[in-house]
Amino acid sequence: MSAQEKPSPAAAVRRITVPQIASRKGGAPIVSLTSYHAHTAAIVDRHADFILVGDSLGMVMHGMETTVGVPLDLMIMHGKAVVRGTQRSLVVVDMPFGTYEESPGAAFRNAARVMKETGCGAIKLEGGTRMAETIRFLTERGIPVMAHTGLTPQSSHVMGGFKTQGRSEDTWPAHEADARAVAEAGAFAVVLEGMVEPLAAKITEQIPIPTIGIGASAQCDGQILVLEDMLGLNPWTPKFVKVYGQLGPMIEEAVSAYAEDVRARSFPTEDQVYR
Ligand code: KIV
Repeated sequence: MSAQEKPSPAAAVRRITVPQIASRKGGAPIVSLTSYHAHTAAIVDRHADFILVGDSLGMVMHGMETTVGVPLDLMIMHGKAVVRGTQRSLVVVDMPFGTYEESPGAAFRNAARVMKETGCGAIKLEGGTRMAETIRFLTERGIPVMAHTGLTPQSSHVMGGFKTQGRSEDTWPAHEADARAVAEAGAFAVVLEGMVEPLAAKITEQIPIPTIGIGASAQCDGQILVLEDMLGLNPWTPKFVKVYGQLGPMIEEAVSAYAEDVRARSFPTEDQVYR
């Protein structure tokens, strides 16, 4: 191979792109999970179309009660780990509460920092109609935005908790308007979280960008779950989660066997020491 033919380091990593995700509207379902951690991200990377470094990491990794206290630097730290651990999935990093709502300019400064420092391919932010101006500002300046409407955990204090949205049909027009507004503003996809199934299905039919459901509808263009929830690591399983593995009990069993071995001096054995 001549020097001219040699692939550039950039060409060696071929990730799924934002336009590829956007083009999946109405097509093969988009597979997505959260990950906050290089080793789990490497596994998810072999199966998912995009990986979300969600601000749920505040609750899952750091024991916070809500996502409100998550700092930008923490998102950047976990975002870097996930980008380093992956090769093919699009990596999307959540903008935490307080880093994008004040003004489009502040949102741009913080989102640009996230993209430069983590190497991720897109950011996600919460909010519908109220965030449309900011979404337009960011996308026109080179920052791909995934929107997030329905149950928006960063507003849990205003909503009075983590409440399923759309239980009363009177509220549907506002939710539909939110989804239309983020699509018109240039978001390439929208997460629909915690809303009644017929509303999520209706929105999916109405808007031209992929909808990614979590506690929403099988009619959405894709699905996302928090990895630790579907692996059985969350002591509480929300209704919308299907548990695909029981890692909690497996870890418990392994840790208990290790503790027993250490106490009995049966670890390390000959195999684990250097002679
Ligand atoms: O933070 C997160 O994990 C999320 C998903 C639940 C969509 O936003």
